Amino acid sequence: MKLLVINGPNLNLLGIREPEIYGRQDYQALTALIHETCALLGISVELFQSNHEGAIVDKIQQAYGEKDAIVINPAAYTHTSVAILDALKAVGLPAVEVHLSDVKSREEFRQRSYAGMACEKTVMGKGFDGYVEAIEYLNERYG
Ligand code: DQA
Repeated sequence: MKLLVINGPNLNLLGIREPEIYGRQDYQALTALIHETCALLGISVELFQSNHEGAIVDKIQQAYGEKDAIVINPAAYTHTSVAILDALKAVGLPAVEVHLSDVKSREEFRQRSYAGMACEKTVMGKGFDGYVEAIEYLNERYG
C-alpha cells in the first residue's frame, strides 16, 4: 500500500506547542514512529506537513492515482476548511482523520470537522498512538 500522511499547521511545533495538550514529543519523533509503523507493515509512506491550506489541497490532489490511502490531521484547518474537505472528496481515496487531543471535549469551535466528513474513521485523544491506529485500520482494509 502507498500511504500519504498529512499534518497541518503548527504540528511542526510539537513538543514546544502546548505540551499539556499535545505532549512533549516533537514532530521528528512522530515522523519516526510513522516510518517505523509503516516499515513493519510493509507500507510505502510519504509524510507531508504544511502550515498552508492551499499546499495541503495541492498535496491531496497529487495523491490521485498515486496513493492508496490518506491519514490526515488537518489541525486547525479541520474546523474551517471546506477546501480540504472538497479535495478529499474529489480524489475519493480512503482517508482516516487523526487528532492528538480529544477535540470533542475541547472548545465549541473545535466541534465541527469538515475534513472528517470525507473520512471513513476518526481517531482522537490517543496522542501519537492515534496515527498507528489509523495506519493499521487502513492497512487491514486496503493493504
Ligand atoms: C488537533 C486539534 C485541533 O483542534 C487543533 O487546531 C490542532 C491539533 C489535534 O491533533 O488534536 O492544531 O488537530
